[in-house]
Amino acid sequence: MSQALRDARRYEEGIETYIKPEDRPGFHLSARVGWMNDPNGFSYYMGQYHMFYQYHPYDSHWGPMHWGHAVSTDLLHWEYLPAALAPDRIYDRDGCFSGNAITLPDGRQMLMYTGVINEIGEGGMTREVQTQNLAFGDGLDYEKYEGNPVLTDADLPEGGSKFAFRDPKPWRVADGTYRVLVANNHEGHGGQMLLFRSDDATHWAFDKVFVENHNRLGRMWECPDFFELDGKYVLLGSSQDMLPKGLEYQNGNGTFYLTGTYDEETETFFEEGDHTIDYGIDFYAPQTVLAPDGRRIMIGWMQNWDTCNLHTKSTPWFGQMSIPRELHLKDGVLYQTPIRELEELRTDEVVYEDLVLSSEERELDGVSGRMVDLTVEVEAADPEALYRRFAIRFAKNDEFYTEVRFRRKESTVKIDRMYSGSRRAIIHQRKAAVSHEDGKLKLRIILDRFSAEVFIGDGEKVMSTTLETDLSADRIAFLADGAVRLRVAKYTLAP
Ligand code: FRU
Repeated sequence: MSQALRDARRYEEGIETYIKPEDRPGFHLSARVGWMNDPNGFSYYMGQYHMFYQYHPYDSHWGPMHWGHAVSTDLLHWEYLPAALAPDRIYDRDGCFSGNAITLPDGRQMLMYTGVINEIGEGGMTREVQTQNLAFGDGLDYEKYEGNPVLTDADLPEGGSKFAFRDPKPWRVADGTYRVLVANNHEGHGGQMLLFRSDDATHWAFDKVFVENHNRLGRMWECPDFFELDGKYVLLGSSQDMLPKGLEYQNGNGTFYLTGTYDEETETFFEEGDHTIDYGIDFYAPQTVLAPDGRRIMIGWMQNWDTCNLHTKSTPWFGQMSIPRELHLKDGVLYQTPIRELEELRTDEVVYEDLVLSSEERELDGVSGRMVDLTVEVEAADPEALYRRFAIRFAKNDEFYTEVRFRRKESTVKIDRMYSGSRRAIIHQRKAAVSHEDGKLKLRIILDRFSAEVFIGDGEKVMSTTLETDLSADRIAFLADGAVRLRVAKYTLAP
């Protein structure tokens, strides 16, 4: 083991003891110490889910990337394992960037990741040269492959940049050969996902340009994932420098999914549509895993690149993952619902049926908390005088709150953390278009101390946001500007 990895392991073990469990999310994975960004190597290996992550243990800001590591059997209770990778080789000395994991036929787990070297170029500009690398391990310790790097600029098609060539997503094909998708930037048409192939998982060769951006969804694409779902195929990506299109793609560095069909013979993906994955403020770089029971489960980094360095509180950890979400595709739309294992954490059920609310702000007995699973079904109580706005405020005290607001006529839901206690002039609001029948809408809100994830209409749209609000702000209130009928079901979540 290198000195750099030994140092990181010793450091995280020591500093972790200073962090009280109640100062972290209860059931979302957060950085063991220091900084976390993208999920990496999300996989099921030897009876456990493994999650690695972009990790800078020594600071709560981004720095030379390591791979942090945690395991879980239910994706809600996580156990930290020692850091898996450190930037300790000539080809990755400035960072071990994102990648993925697969299980080899001999039982070893293979990590494929991007190695980064900072090169001083013309005019003294630093640029990152990026290559793809392998490490083999047993679920705890990983040995970097002596043949690294396995993909370099020499493998790129014409126009592909060696400075933007990262985030490999490998998989094994039924015939025993391997494929990997790697994100790349093309000087003409922006982001592209490149397909490479291998017979033995170590010797790789360029196959084809799998998908091209054509400069439509931002610039450079990052973090591909590609899988079959409900009879179609889905390609997940994250894109830098996106321009908003209506209520889609509002996050600058944002996420997208492409739906389509896939011809295995010719390895061709036929695109049918594209959408934002998460319409909230904080979500990026998701990865999926195929669970042993066949569920496709996705986890993203619950942050926004534009604001992540502006956190007001200095904490010994920074960065958390989203709740794991089960995915389905219906009519070209990616539906997301919190994994059903979350229901095991439910305690303290409080249900209100047929609750009629008029133009007032109402708090309900037993409905409060910061680790909460709250489902609210709203509908108009007076068809003659339809309400226009309905809102739920949570993480609330006399001073602070975060609000989810439904505007019936506009058919939009807005998440608004303007008054959540943030002292920074950063993005605090996002809006999503939603479908409903005459004001009948279902919202499910998952709170876990420092975040809120809003699942709208059985997961047709999702909006995620982080919160800095003091944990003592734990009230929940309901507001409408006309008569609404509510069904409210609230559970405290106890991991
Ligand atoms: C996405 C990303 C990846 C890269 C990693 C570096 O958030 O920029 O493309 O591998 O983060 O930490």
